[in-house]
Amino acid sequence: MKVGGLARRTLWPDAVGDSVHVIDQRALPHRWVEAQLATVGAVAQAIAEMWVRGAPLIGATAAYGMALQCRADASDAGLHEARRQLDATRPTAVNLAWATRRMLAQLLPLPEAQRATAAWLEAAAIAEEDVATNAAIGQHGLAMLQALAASRPTGRPLQVLTHCNAGWLATVDWGTALAPIYQAHDAGLAVHVWVDETRPRNQGASLTAWELGQAGIAHTVIADNTGGHLMQHGEVDVVIVGADRVTARGDVCNKIGTYLKALAAYDNGVPFYAAVPRSTVDFTLDDGLADIPIEMRTPREVTHLTGLDAQGRLVEVQLAPGGTPALNPAFDVTPARLVTGLITERGIVTPEALRS
Ligand code: MRU
Repeated sequence: MKVGGLARRTLWPDAVGDSVHVIDQRALPHRWVEAQLATVGAVAQAIAEMWVRGAPLIGATAAYGMALQCRADASDAGLHEARRQLDATRPTAVNLAWATRRMLAQLLPLPEAQRATAAWLEAAAIAEEDVATNAAIGQHGLAMLQALAASRPTGRPLQVLTHCNAGWLATVDWGTALAPIYQAHDAGLAVHVWVDETRPRNQGASLTAWELGQAGIAHTVIADNTGGHLMQHGEVDVVIVGADRVTARGDVCNKIGTYLKALAAYDNGVPFYAAVPRSTVDFTLDDGLADIPIEMRTPREVTHLTGLDAQGRLVEVQLAPGGTPALNPAFDVTPARLVTGLITERGIVTPEALRS
């Protein structure tokens, strides 16, 4: 994707292969800050503190974390400990454990002396595959959007509602939910995006709005409570969200608030899609509500907000009375019965079609 006209990715290895660069997304949309990560500990910190976030991107970043571990200590014990450390950072997005498992499976059979080079190549392969996968998701989603547009009266853009940020910032490039929108825009289809602000961390208002603005795509930020009202008034043609984990039967775990959008979409006959790479499907689980671990984050994300003050300084302000208890589950589960389809790199399919 382009930022200020320049093609960018969300992570890139340095030229000599001893560190990886990322965008510190905590500063967006107000500042562009890059960070250089040179140890597995630094990678774990960047994931836990959400410098990098979004299920596919934390998977690819964790893969580089395993590669950096090999630079320091490529022993079996060192690799197992690195995997434990990385997997513990964020429990819900399954791409993280998928990536560290894949790295381990590739590296453990090799002699220790070969592991550092192999790890760097495998991490790069995971990152490249992510880009290709998301481009394919975009193509399949584009076909769906084109068909939908053809069935709608002409004269106004197709209205897409999205939640959180499942754009290129959540992946290595393209994004998942936003990939079809980028490709629709490139194909000349008129699209307008309703962007849920996505409390409490506001990934919609901060990240999705910024991304769409960079791409020149029409969009409007709405409060999280507004989507149902818009659907009742015929202002939403389709909902597309990303996912952090999808079960074998198709339950979709995604950013908190997604379930409410799916309910409203169902009640109003609005198609509701999750855009999902295969690495987000957890074939070991069936019942998303019972079995997916939901990350609980600090109450401070609910009681406080960060933004720019009149002097252009990034400041945190308090919303709730001091000491107010707050609860902050980061994800919820939308049952498969509310999901129209999964947009994947293999087309709009059920999880079963992705098994092999
Ligand atoms: O907590 P985050 O920001 O890492 O959450 C991830 C997300 O952005 C969404 O839940 C997204 O839809 C899935 S990642 C493509």
